[in-house]
Amino acid sequence: MRNAQLPAGAFGLESAVFPQGPALNPDIRPAPAAIEAPFPVLPRPYDAAGLAGLAARYGSPLLVVDCDVLRAQYRRLAAALPGVVLHYALKPLPVPAVVRALADEGACFDLATNGEVDLVRAEGISPLRCIHTHPIKRDADIRHALEYGVTTFVVDNPDEMEKFAPYAGRAELLIRLSFRSPEAVVDLSRKFGCDADTALELMRQAKRLGVEVRGLSFHVGSQSRSPETKVHAIDACGTLMAEARREGLAALGTLDIGGGFPIDYVEQATPIEEFCAPIRAALARLPADTRVIAEPGRFICGPAGTVLTTVMGRAFRDGCWWYYLDDGLYGSFSGQLYDHAHYPVEPLFPGEGAAEPSVLAGPTCDSVDVIAEDLALPPLRAGDILVGRQMGAYTWASATDFNFFPRARVLPVNV
Ligand SMILES: Cc1ncc(COP(=O)(O)O)c(C=O)c1O
Repeated sequence: MRNAQLPAGAFGLESAVFPQGPALNPDIRPAPAAIEAPFPVLPRPYDAAGLAGLAARYGSPLLVVDCDVLRAQYRRLAAALPGVVLHYALKPLPVPAVVRALADEGACFDLATNGEVDLVRAEGISPLRCIHTHPIKRDADIRHALEYGVTTFVVDNPDEMEKFAPYAGRAELLIRLSFRSPEAVVDLSRKFGCDADTALELMRQAKRLGVEVRGLSFHVGSQSRSPETKVHAIDACGTLMAEARREGLAALGTLDIGGGFPIDYVEQATPIEEFCAPIRAALARLPADTRVIAEPGRFICGPAGTVLTTVMGRAFRDGCWWYYLDDGLYGSFSGQLYDHAHYPVEPLFPGEGAAEPSVLAGPTCDSVDVIAEDLALPPLRAGDILVGRQMGAYTWASATDFNFFPRARVLPVNV
């Protein structure tokens, strides 16, 4: 029971090795667990002093989520796709304040896991505003969503269709089609989705089982560089819907066109109005009574997220300054690995002194944990803050606490 006598924190080693405790740089405060309301107001454009004030008050690393930006993105996409019912996909940023802000805008929600079901449920969202779109589910997952009151699910294969036989009359299905999208940064039609013939076969199977198929869905890929695959997918789904009606298989009244709407990173994306113009034209070719829905994630939450991270220390190696930050590839920058994103990152205060070759590294002991190399930055010191923009989507959501470096705290602002 030796540990029982040790003081709390780092297994007691801090106190054992440094009885007085080393002086901590007051700028580098480990982030505590959760931030509660009231949340601050942060006018835009953000100024450096305002952001630094947030880091000083709430700690670092910090993910600032601006609800005004969430609302603006939602409205912008809704205006670019009139008549399309937008279901915010929770996965890129599953945060209660985001759900609340979008619910107030009138958004619906796209859920894929029990955790996402629990989150919207805890926020008091009506299940009638939600769909469940994971193509592969355990029976317990189906029951969990049904118990909440979600009735729309997605399938893409016969085994999955079979799972709905016990729920005939309680669940309505969308069949997910696959349209490969090599131009998307993340092609989502490799792992999920079926072809048109399989879709028709699934409709026949559903008829035998007495299960209702209500429509089709697809997700061509995330951060699409061009709308062409979506346009092709909409046209192909229109043809398939007509065929299903002709064969008397199902009256497919719903088409779910997925997510994938792109945003700017270091690389600029096509403006959303331009991106959606050919999509609107394709939707106009569908029967007028088709209910069209979409599952945008990144477009809504990506631009709303700003990461503040602090230099923990630095070293001069091989002619370069290496700056070790308190956030990295195992944290908010995990999207550089999983999501292939390149975020604009810069010092919060430009500083003085000539730019020098610099590397930004994450805090963990893993050598892969390097955020950016070949940068030219003015000299930074421990305690200096860097700011990463466009970091709301697939960043914090896929972060870990590897090496016991806690992931960034989420601070909603302009709630
Ligand atoms: C089924 C489904 N819907 C929606 C999304 C959100 O996509 P995006 O963030 O590209 O809009 C994803 C992302 O993986 C997804 O898998």
